[in-house]
Formats: sequence, structure tokens, C-alpha cells
Amino acid sequence: MTRKIILTVLLFVPGLLSAAGGTSLLYTTPHINETDRAAIQRGARIFVNYCLTCHSAEYMRYKRVADDLGISEDIMKKNLMFASDKIHEGMVVAIEADDARRWFGVLPPDLSVIARARTREWLYNYFMTFYRDDKSPVGVNNATFPGVAMPNVLWELQGWQEPVYEVHTNAEGEEERTIVGMKLIEPGKQTAKEFKQTIRDLVTFMVYMAEPAELERHRLGFWVLAFLFVLLMISYALKREYWRDVH
Ligand code: HEC
Repeated sequence: MTRKIILTVLLFVPGLLSAAGGTSLLYTTPHINETDRAAIQRGARIFVNYCLTCHSAEYMRYKRVADDLGISEDIMKKNLMFASDKIHEGMVVAIEADDARRWFGVLPPDLSVIARARTREWLYNYFMTFYRDDKSPVGVNNATFPGVAMPNVLWELQGWQEPVYEVHTNAEGEEERTIVGMKLIEPGKQTAKEFKQTIRDLVTFMVYMAEPAELERHRLGFWVLAFLFVLLMISYALKREYWRDVH
């Protein structure tokens, strides 16, 4: 009996894991430096302008962003907040939950810690792989999140793309199509290179948002090392001083 249970578990666990992993990622994610303040700031701007209509980031307070990025409350208010937002509050969502459910069928999730739930690689690929799909009821699909209910909100910047398929025959002799890349069919306001940078900045902000203490840790880390170095120098000088008479 127990053996049967163990066997069943062993048989299913790998399957479950790969199912959760979903499709493999199309793009290699560029290096994301979550302590790069300029990138975080550019990403924050995209986030505020394109995402807060539907998603909240309740645990991320504007004041905290301003302090971490070393920008004044005035600049924060002017560039990164809507007039109705309060500096001490979290990033709240603009649409009503009921409307969201009616329009999308699901509630857009809070994004405060999404980078921890999904990983930076997944996020980078998610934003890079929206494509036009006439078969989908919303006209849009996503190679990283097939059947997604989120519209392609950055289409103006990126333009529209279509998947590149690879056709192969499976064991049953049926033709199968897998997406192996993306092809731009209608250019947007940004070049492909600029758009990649936009997504990189956006993901940088999201990684920072999931772990704002990281920035503080790096700052502290520097001073801790500097302190240890000074201590080392003093110890060394002392050692020389003490041993001088011995030799
Ligand atoms: C018009 C509304 C809308 C806007 C604007 C929008 N989203 Fe979404 N988003 C959704 C909906 C709805 C879902 C849920 C999709 C689903 O579960 O099928 C979603 C899902 C997501 C997910 C996946 C969450 C998960 O399940 O892991 C991420 C990440 C995300 N959005 C990030 C963003 C970012 C970043 C922006 C801004 C660039 C943005 N969204 C703008 C509606 C929106």
C-alpha cells in the first residue's frame, strides 16, 4: 500500500513540476541590476503609466520609492504619481474590482511581489512575447502565458508581432507547431533595441519592488566592508608597532 502511494507520488511529481514550469522561455534575459537607480526610475515611470490602471502594488509606497531612489517628493509627485495619489500610500489601482472582473474575467493580481513569485526571467519573457492572435477571443495571446487575459498594453511602444512556428511531426504522426521566435509585423514607436531596454527597466523596477531592502543591503554592505578595511589597516599598523622592539 505504502509502496503504491510512494510510486504514485514519484510518478506524478515530475509531471506536476514541468506542468507548473509551462512552456520553456524564448529569450535569454539580459542582466538585471536591481540596485541601478536610473533603471529603477525609468521602470517606475513605465509601471505608473501603463500598469496601475489595472494592477495595484499595495506594498510599495511612493515615499519609499522616492527615498530609495534619492529623489525629492516634488519630483516624485510631478513625474511618478497621479494627482490623486498620496505620497505615504501604496500604489493603488485605478479600476474597480467589479469592472475588472467583468472586462477580463479575472482580477489583475497585485504586483508588489510578483518578481519573487514568477522570477525575473519569466517576467522579461512575458513582456516580450505578446502577439496578435485572431483565434483568441481578445485578439491577443502570449507565448509565455498562453491564453492570458491581459491586453497587450505596451503595443504602442513595441508594435505588433506574430509568432514564428516550427512544425514537426509527433509520435502519432500528427503535425505539431511550437513557437520558436517572434517576428515584428507592424513597428511601434520604439525600435526593437529600445523596447528591450524598456522591458529591462520595467523588470528591474519589479525586482526592486519585490525586494526594496536589497538596495539598503548594498549600501550597508559597502560601509561594512569599508569599516573592516580600516580596521585591518589599524591592526596591521599596531602589529608592526608592537613587534618593532622584538626584532
Ligand atoms: C487593462 C488592464 C491591465 C493593464 C493596463 C495591465 N495588466 Fe497585467 N494583467 C491584467 C489581467 C486581467 C491579468 C490576469 C491575466 C490572467 O490571469 O489571464 C494580468 C496579469 C499580469 C501578470 C501575470 C500575473 C500572474 O498571474 O503571474 C503580470 C506579471 C502583469 N499582468 C504585469 C503587468 C504590467 C507590468 C503592466 C504594465 C506594463 C500590466 N500588467 C498592465 C490586466 C492588465
